[in-house]
Amino acid sequence: MHLNDPIYILGIESSCDDTSASVINRNKILANKVSNQKIHENYGGVVPELASRAHQQNIIPVVHSALEEAGISKDQLSAIAFTRGPGLLGSLLVGVSFAKAFAMGLHIPIIEVDHLHAHIMAHFIDNGSPAPEFPFLCLTVSGGHSQIVKVNDYNQMQIIGKTIDDAAGETFDKAAKIMGLPYPGGPVIDKLAQSGDGNRFRFSKPKIKDLDYSFSGLKTSVLYFIRDELKKDPNFIEKNKHDLSASLQRTIIEILLDKLKLASRQTGIKEIAIAGGVSANSGLRKTLEKEAVQMNWKTYIPEFQFSTDNAAMISIVGYYKYLNNDFSSFDIAPYSRK
Ligand code: KG4
Ligand code: ZN
Repeated sequence: MHLNDPIYILGIESSCDDTSASVINRNKILANKVSNQKIHENYGGVVPELASRAHQQNIIPVVHSALEEAGISKDQLSAIAFTRGPGLLGSLLVGVSFAKAFAMGLHIPIIEVDHLHAHIMAHFIDNGSPAPEFPFLCLTVSGGHSQIVKVNDYNQMQIIGKTIDDAAGETFDKAAKIMGLPYPGGPVIDKLAQSGDGNRFRFSKPKIKDLDYSFSGLKTSVLYFIRDELKKDPNFIEKNKHDLSASLQRTIIEILLDKLKLASRQTGIKEIAIAGGVSANSGLRKTLEKEAVQMNWKTYIPEFQFSTDNAAMISIVGYYKYLNNDFSSFDIAPYSRK
């Protein structure tokens, strides 16, 4: 194989409620298609059974449209990468089974990818902006996870802090539900917060040791506060939704950044990245840039389309694993948690 020979990888992501397919040539994205499942909006969260069914309906059209946009035929694919876990088992099964069957028909290898590894590796998609240098710290914040990861190499990562209860994204979503806002709550709160006063309401911050996080106390404090205020004024939420959103968001960002700063001080690492759905938050992005000046950090923020769940991040991990001949056996099963 020559250095310039194409390596086309199809990536499949189906761990939660987004069905996504991507095609890359080496580390360049040719297509990144995401089909969101609107059905969960009415339920205040993802309904696993509905998610599996929607994946089953979406997967073939999404893959087809990714190949079409990439302008290649399926016979040109070198391998298929897919999310093996963590995530919802029924959702993962759709992507894993599809990847196996498609690859078997094409006589090409399959490559399993860990979803959280992929969120971090989104930084290595070649989109013209520089990638972080090893070792770097990555704050990985999504609907299911909140972690500080020390990334030593493409395939060598160490979790140095994590949440002991809820994830940051889950906290956005649960608070939104309390406020009667649709799912997913993160982007809605982000938008409302932009015209709100983040210092108006004070919510409790956890006192957790080392680099770990806790968000369940904050969620409870928001719940009780709103419940008490509603007794005095039934329109409290409607009247104050901007300030409530901004105050909640400010608190979550402070909690996240306090530990990230501690991690940077402890390790001496100043290459700092963020990843995962919550890294799309405009307040977090702005605050990180401010802290970067204070802390003398070099920061890396993924493009919006690579922050929330997407298959481009799956195919980029697939590419690096392909270079190492790191293929998976056809008898593997998905895992819901690690
Ligand atoms: O990474 P992701 O798409 O899926 C998981 O792996 O969980 O993350 C989804 C989470 C949801 O909790 C969603 O509310 C949150 O990311 N999120 C945001 C924003 N966009 C998505 N949270 C805050 N602000 C946003 N702009
Ligand atoms: Zn994710």
